[in-house]
Formats: sequence, C-alpha cells, structure tokens
Amino acid sequence: MTSLLVLAVPSGTGRTLQAVMPRAATLHVCSDCAHASPRWHGQCPGCGAWNTLVEERAPAAVGRGAGGRSGGRAAAPAGRPVPLREVRAEAMVRLPTGLGELDRVLGGGLVPGSLVLLGGSPGIGKSTLTAMALGHLEAAGRRTLYVSGEESPAQIRLRAARLGEGALDVPVLAETDLATVLATLESERPDVCVIDSVQTLNDPQLTGAPGSVGQVREVAGAIARIAKAQDTAVVLVGHVTKEGALAGPRVLEHLVDCVLQFEGERERTYRTVRALKNRFGSTSEAGVFEMRQDGLVEVLDASARFVSEATGKPGSVVLAAMEGTRPLLVEVQALVSPSELVPPRRVCNGIDRARLALVLAVLARHAGVGTGTADVFVNVVGGVRVEEPGADLAVALAVASAAKGVALGGGAQPAGALPLACFGEVGLTGELRTVAHPERRAEEAAKFGLRRIVAPPAHGTLREALRAALAEPAPAHAA
Ligand code: TYD
Ligand code: MG
Repeated sequence: MTSLLVLAVPSGTGRTLQAVMPRAATLHVCSDCAHASPRWHGQCPGCGAWNTLVEERAPAAVGRGAGGRSGGRAAAPAGRPVPLREVRAEAMVRLPTGLGELDRVLGGGLVPGSLVLLGGSPGIGKSTLTAMALGHLEAAGRRTLYVSGEESPAQIRLRAARLGEGALDVPVLAETDLATVLATLESERPDVCVIDSVQTLNDPQLTGAPGSVGQVREVAGAIARIAKAQDTAVVLVGHVTKEGALAGPRVLEHLVDCVLQFEGERERTYRTVRALKNRFGSTSEAGVFEMRQDGLVEVLDASARFVSEATGKPGSVVLAAMEGTRPLLVEVQALVSPSELVPPRRVCNGIDRARLALVLAVLARHAGVGTGTADVFVNVVGGVRVEEPGADLAVALAVASAAKGVALGGGAQPAGALPLACFGEVGLTGELRTVAHPERRAEEAAKFGLRRIVAPPAHGTLREALRAALAEPAPAHAA
C-alpha cells in the first residue's frame, strides 16, 4: 500500500531532498500556450491570455537531468507496431447495472476498467442513480465501493434505505483526501466504484481549491490510472456549472471513456440520461427515469404517458421525436400573448432558443403568422429536452395554433379526440425537410392511435403543413 507524506519544504532547499522523496512542486501551466510559471498569474506571461494558468504537478526532475535532447531519448527501446488483424480483441465483458435505461445508454453495462463521468445539476438524482446501480451490482455478487466526499455515511444510509435492500449492502467511504481514496481502491479492489463527486476530492500537494481545474484533472488522472491497472469500472460524479457545462472546464471529457449527462428539471418528475461521448457504445441513446418516493423508476412507456397527458387544446401538438434509436412522443405547447415589452419575450423549455427564433422568423416570413408584438412561450411537457431538427415543425404548429387560438386537427376538439402528431425540419425558405427515421416516428404515433400525422414529404412547405394541421379532419381516413 502506498501512503504519501507531505512535508513543508522551504523553497530553495528542495533539490537536496529529492533523493528522499519527490518534492511537492507544482507549476502553473497556460492551457493555451503551455507557458509554465512557478507562480499563478491572472494573465499568462507567455501569450497574454487571461485566466488560463492551471496548476499542475511539476514533472519529476529525474528524467530532465539526463543530459542533452537525444541523450534521454536514446535510452527508450523502439516500439513494435502490430497489424490490426493480429491484435487479439477479447469479447468485452459488461457489468449490467440492473437499471435497463442506464445500461442501454452505456451500451450494455459498465465496462471493467473504464471511466464514466456522470454530470448533472444538484438535486437531479446523481447520487440516487449511482447508489441504485451499486445496490444492484452488489446484489448480483460484484464488489462495489461508494466514495462520498459530499455526504456523511449516515446521510448516505438514509438515502439507501429508500432504495431497497441491495443498496444497504454497498460499502461506503466518506473521504475527500485523494491519497486515502487511492489506497482504499488498491486494497479493496472493487469491480465498480463510484466517486461522488470528483470535485470534492482533493490532492493536498496542489494548492488549488478542491474542484479547481488542476485538482479535478489530477484527481481524475490518478483514479484513471488505478482503474485501468486493476480493472475497476469507475463512475465519477461531476457537477455542472450554471451554464450546463461539466465543471472542470471539459478537461475530464477527454480523459474518460464515457460522458453521461443527467438532465431534466428538479421540480419535474422526468429525467433523462444521455451519452455525450461513449467509447463503448452509441451516443444517440437516452434513458428516461421518473423520481419517486423510492428512488428513480425507469419509464419504459414514456410515449404513452406523454400522449395521454396531451391536451389537444389550441397551442398543443404531439411531436414524434427520436431519442437515439427509440421513437418518443412528447407534447409541445406554446402560448402567444400580446406584449408591451420591446423586444417581446421568447421563453422556451426543452428546445433550443436559437431554433425558436428561426422558426418564428420563418412563420412570419413564409407562413403569414407574425408574432412580432407578442410574447412567445414554448414548452416541451414533462421536462424532456428535444435537441433535434425534427422538433421545428412541432414548434411552428404549436405557435401558429396558439397565435390563432385554434386547436390543431380542426376547430374545437370533440372530447376524447386524439391530438395531431408531427415532425419535420423547417428550412429558411419555408420548406419542410425530411428528418431521420420517418417510418419509425409514424409507427410510434400510430401505435398510440394518432393517425393524423403532418410531416414532410407529404407536406412540402410550412404553409401547406399549417393548412393541413388546421383543417377539419376528413370524415373517413386522412393521412
Ligand atoms: P440526489 O440523488 O441526492 O441528487 P444529486 O446527487 O444529483 O444532487 O437526489 C435528488 C433529489 O431526489 C432529492 O431532492 C430528493 C429526491 N429523492 C426522491 O424524491 N426519492 C428518492 O427515493 C430519493 C433517494 C431522492
Ligand atoms: Mg449527490
């Protein structure tokens, strides 16, 4: 087992001590130009950029003293490249977390020795999700370890008690010191370890505060080395900043094998897990969960929920979206109301603001629906985020329907009538463009009885789609 000693060494006397132990020397390196300086500066003395200096451990002095440039290099033996055909690729073992939605996003479960970064805003359920996964793994006979730098064991126990039996069997370590965590990992050798959170661990040899870029990088790097060496799958929980980026300015995203984003709004019940990067699977999958009294519950029939809640009133439409390889029906709602504000408000939830601006401009210019003097609110119901161009048409139809005060599918919906479904990208010249997997979206809508679908190529322009969507349903069948 290794243990690190920290000695206070007066500056200048370090060199004589090097034979005894590595000096806790650090450098501040510019992340733009790599200029290294012993002290921190707000502005890089090398390139003049602001706030780019990041604290790093100084490279070990041993290698540097070895003489000239080529002198040091000659010592290393040459590598032997191997044709890919001759590389043995063993079938990858996976450790299923027991949460089907999470496993699908991971590509079938955790890969031994891999590093997963799970990001999400506070209170979204990161600790709950990881505690549940470890509980299932422990119940399946795997060795697990939950390291928490945020909560006391008593707090963790209180949460685990709500999550069922397996969760109480998970060994926990409440610790923020990196060296202790590394030593524990080495002695326990778990199959799966959760670090909650990477920002709370701290390497005392670096002067930066826990959570600073230098600290986060050092912590994750050290854990990654051990994880690879002893085949431990590690889930690093990470906080996101107000802007939604993973804190530790993306430095971790390069280091880890898989970046998962847990999102949704704290006040809403639905949450989605998405892969932003995945070396062992697709990045287009998403898992949907619901937060309940007894933890996160997988939502397998998400479409059914959202469709049954759809109102069918003016301003509402059902979007047949794709979440990775899986179609998902969600309700998109809009409200258009006269405003005194200049410029009027544009508020959206679950879609991109720039996309809303584009759709409103096309609606005004090419479809005769102007909203220039009105506040526009657009919301994807249930806290779901749809980030695909196929959502454009739903936004356009919802806004047009709200602006006109007319329900889509023709006038006042008779009680029990099913809402209209749509998908399609809106082009800048008012045309509708086809999006991926039109058949699967239409099938999903049909599965829930939504037979009226407005989408390209049946409707070539936004104006045509609008006319069709606002028309009375044909008596017998309509496409
Ligand atoms: P938590 O997992 O602690 O979030 P994070 O680690 O991302 O900050 O839990 C988030 C919220 O979920 C918390 O406010 C309480 C709530 N919750 C439930 O509703 N049901 C449950 O079974 C649990 C464990 C938590
Ligand atoms: Mg937490």
